[in-house]
Amino acid sequence: MKASVVIVAAGSGNRLGLATPKAFVRVAGMTLLARALRTLRSVDAIGEAVVAVPSGMERAARGEVNAAGLEIPVKITPGGGERQDSVRIALAFTSAEADIAIVHDAARPFATAAMFSECIEAAARIGGAIAAIPVADTLKRVEGGRSIQSTLTRSGLWQAQTPQAFHRALLVEAHARASRDGTVATDDSDLVERLGARVEVVEGSPLNFKITTPDDLAIAEAIATRIGS
Ligand code: CTP
Ligand code: MG
Repeated sequence: MKASVVIVAAGSGNRLGLATPKAFVRVAGMTLLARALRTLRSVDAIGEAVVAVPSGMERAARGEVNAAGLEIPVKITPGGGERQDSVRIALAFTSAEADIAIVHDAARPFATAAMFSECIEAAARIGGAIAAIPVADTLKRVEGGRSIQSTLTRSGLWQAQTPQAFHRALLVEAHARASRDGTVATDDSDLVERLGARVEVVEGSPLNFKITTPDDLAIAEAIATRIGS
């Protein structure tokens, strides 16, 4: 079985508020993109990678790829306006021979090789599999300002993360249909679920959080320094 990985790194990181696009921001000396690439080295099932980066960052990305010392071919492409566009664009550059396509946000620097391997293995069996964690906090629906309308039942609720793996043909079809219908989703699993395909969760981790704000960056710095990674 061969898997192709799509790394989406084409966002600007507006909420981080830095001049550098988020994937090129360093945590403990290493860019988020380099961290994602480094993790791929330990995932045997991955045969190639396609990285979507902001237009104009292709050369910088190639530098990160060369430094990561990967033994697989890596293509670099400019991304699109939204995350979903970047995935669709990068996916089109993956080999049609690949059985599995696995999508990962460069903004999650602490994803593990085991998460990639487990998603790939489960997606091969089931159709799709995503890293996720059960919701730990009580959830409130707040409407019209700050007034609590209701408390949601937490049981059965999971937070979706990346990596997310699917039969490649399924993911290609999901994106094609979304483009046709004008569907916008915040993750790839949603698009595949809409086809009626089965997707399961595999064990993610609270450490696999997405860096969004300056606070997240500070937390990531502390984690990377503490665990020496
Ligand atoms: N992404 C992408 N192309 C886009 C937008 C986002 O490839 N047009 C990627 C980001 O690089 C990131 C992931 O999708 O790895 C998740 O997006 P998000 O955390 O929202 O990152 P940004 O869009 O860069 O941040 P912001 O929304 O604060 O601008
Ligand atoms: Mg964004």
